[in-house]
Amino acid sequence: MSQEDEPEATRRESGQNETSRANRSWWDRNADDYQQEHGAFLGDHRFVWGPEGLDEADAGLLGPAAELRGRDVLEIGAGAAQCARWLAERGARPVALDLSHRQLQHARRIGESADRTAGGVALVEADAAALPFAAGSFDLACSAYGALPFVAEPVRVLREVRRVLRPGGRLVFSVTHPVRWAFPDEPGPEGLTLAASYFDRTPYVEQDDSGDAVYVEHHRTMGDRVRDVVAAGFRLVDLVEPEWPSWNRQEWGGWSPLRGAFIPGTAIFVCVRD
Ligand SMILES: C[S@@+](CC[C@H](N)C(=O)[O-])C[C@H]1O[C@@H](n2cnc3c(N)ncnc32)[C@H](O)[C@@H]1O
Repeated sequence: MSQEDEPEATRRESGQNETSRANRSWWDRNADDYQQEHGAFLGDHRFVWGPEGLDEADAGLLGPAAELRGRDVLEIGAGAAQCARWLAERGARPVALDLSHRQLQHARRIGESADRTAGGVALVEADAAALPFAAGSFDLACSAYGALPFVAEPVRVLREVRRVLRPGGRLVFSVTHPVRWAFPDEPGPEGLTLAASYFDRTPYVEQDDSGDAVYVEHHRTMGDRVRDVVAAGFRLVDLVEPEWPSWNRQEWGGWSPLRGAFIPGTAIFVCVRD
């Protein structure tokens, strides 16, 4: 992108349709760079919940790994389906869903390089706000920074996930920790100085010269997220704020060991569909 094409970063309202359209194009355009930059950290078949490096293999937020065998699992906003491949290797039957065609092409590339099938993972291109599955299709649903930080109507997505889960099913999803919105998205010391109101829910929007959004993230406070989960009919059973471990020296955008020592970067919601 040339200098004059550089989008303007602003805070303004952005509805579901504009948000979805902008983010689909953004992820299609940026999937190659994203996988190039973060692919090694994500691993081809590792299930990591966020930049802190918390592994599902250690955290067991979806339940004991030994009990994943035979489970139907939906991964929402799966990107290149690294988490879904980890699940498949434990005998689960994962479906990796994403809005971006290019992200799913990476999912196919990595899966096929492993075993010529797609890594035992079904790939579905769709918006998380309208899941193309019958009610009660899955035992578990998960999302590591997929979809939920990027949608204007999170309750709509959560209701869809509840619909496709069987009774007793579990949804675990991670998002940017809400407190991050009050700080500049910088990995260095400048990212430790309050710069905005935590309570300002105005979306972060990058827009082109015509004012059309090309990338959108939506902010919810911690209380909003809890209310969203409850409004969608889930029971919240845990809220995990991973601490930055000493072994992880790797920065990821505004996430860094420096900031990780002071403020949380990720919030993981563990929810049950009764
Ligand atoms: C930060 S990536 C996370 C993917 C993967 N878990 C990872 O860690 O790389 C966010 C993903 O969410 C997807 N996404 C964004 N909005 C979505 C939506 N409305 N429905 C489905 N996927 C969406 C993007 O295409 C992208 O692949």
